[in-house]
Amino acid sequence: MSDRKTLDFFINGVPAVAYAGETVIQAARRAGVDIPHFCWHPQLSVPGNCRICMVEVEQDDGEPWFDIGCNMPVTAGMRVLTESDTVKKLRRDTMQFITLNHPVDCGICNKSGECTLQDYHYEHNGRKSLSADTKNHATKFYSLTDRILLDNERCIMCTRCVRFTHEVSGSRALAAVQRGDHALIRPAEGADFGADAYSDNVIDICPVGALLARKDLANARVWYTEATPSVCPGCARGCTVDLWHRKADWKLTALDPALNQRLERVTPRETPEVNGPWVCNKARDLATVFERPRATEATVRGRPVPVADAVAVAAERLAGARAAAVLVSSWGSNEELAAFQAAFAGRLGAAVRAWVKADHHPQPGEVVEDALLIVADKNPNRRGALAHVPAWDGTLPADADVVLVWGEGVPASALPAGAFVIRLGSYADPANAADHAAADLFLPVSIQTERDGHYTNLHGVVSGFRGYRAPPPGVLHAEALFQAWAPALAAPLAMAGGPA
Ligand code: SF4
Ligand code: SF4
Ligand code: FES
Repeated sequence: MSDRKTLDFFINGVPAVAYAGETVIQAARRAGVDIPHFCWHPQLSVPGNCRICMVEVEQDDGEPWFDIGCNMPVTAGMRVLTESDTVKKLRRDTMQFITLNHPVDCGICNKSGECTLQDYHYEHNGRKSLSADTKNHATKFYSLTDRILLDNERCIMCTRCVRFTHEVSGSRALAAVQRGDHALIRPAEGADFGADAYSDNVIDICPVGALLARKDLANARVWYTEATPSVCPGCARGCTVDLWHRKADWKLTALDPALNQRLERVTPRETPEVNGPWVCNKARDLATVFERPRATEATVRGRPVPVADAVAVAAERLAGARAAAVLVSSWGSNEELAAFQAAFAGRLGAAVRAWVKADHHPQPGEVVEDALLIVADKNPNRRGALAHVPAWDGTLPADADVVLVWGEGVPASALPAGAFVIRLGSYADPANAADHAAADLFLPVSIQTERDGHYTNLHGVVSGFRGYRAPPPGVLHAEALFQAWAPALAAPLAMAGGPA
């Protein structure tokens, strides 16, 4: 524990320690005791409205005291019971009340498999509804935004989503209207939840299946998928994320095999010093980045050639260059950058000059930067790359005889005429295709879902990502490519007189 003031207390008869000011639910979590909760969220204020976190406090006079653990501060010597018979009965009754009007349509609900209400029902209730009354049917699929549907029947009015927009994203775009069993979550008057760059976080923090991502509806059930840890490359914040994709055990054989590779969804992976538990919507849409049409063939002036031949020709050109210029990718991993540095080390600053360039720039309509997470540099590893070579100022030496462009963001028009242009790229989408065809030599390289690596974010925090699928046939890993070039680049300079 830190040097914060602490208090000794007991939880289920076991001695435990709380920081002064901590609530029972917080101290219990650190002691390894999970108290059920719906409305409480560690990053949000405490409304105390769901009552599922009820605990018992033993009193010296023998009369027990019941209160909600999310709002009750720990006091010295306090004796908390989270599993007494009365606490269990109160939880069962609370679950009966919370599910009074719930449609129990788990079979068609996207949250099924990771729904807290479903889990708590089996853990803390397990009985059929005791109510003989007809359920109150609320709005079924209300269009909250272009990205999010709201199923009011499943909503338990915990207000996490409302508080998120007030306390985290700042849009204040959601509100609770009406009262009692007529209460509904609705857009707040005069606010635009569709313009909230962090809106999709409410889907994660909704403890039930009331808030649904439109793009994930009717895709793979969550239990068919697994998460691979990764880093969002959308900006230099480098938020840590989980990339969800189909498990090998549930591989499809009868449908489109591409579904086995597809990025099903992206969720935040909590890292306090980087992004906490949040990401912006750009991370949710990473499939639009990673699943662009791929470049899979080595080419010479647009014509396919065997990849080994292209690797050898590129090595020969770079080794024989009098004045090579290299534009280094700020989407390259630290491992790739180290391999680049090792391969070119003997020539950097002499026959080879290298600079870090931006691969991606802000797009129209994109939030460029804000006070929460989003930063203006749309590249995940510029800081890691700058540890090896300086930043590019947008110009290249007119006498460069070989130019190597690693990654995206440099049009053919920016390169000196007459130089032999080598490009390393991953995508064949229209933004790149023309430049690839114009290159004298093109080599296809892997993307971050196909290899392991690390990025260094703008504050110097290093986060790792893992690959979860093989690169397409013919596609190289840039790290291996630099290692393959290293012997040729380590040889003495071929041109008499050394660097120009
Ligand atoms: S929509 Fe979800 S997060 Fe919002 S109040 Fe309802 S249950 Fe809570
Ligand atoms: S803030 Fe940047 S790194 Fe984080 S999720 Fe958004 S685009 Fe990705
Ligand atoms: S978690 Fe304590 S009242 Fe909801």
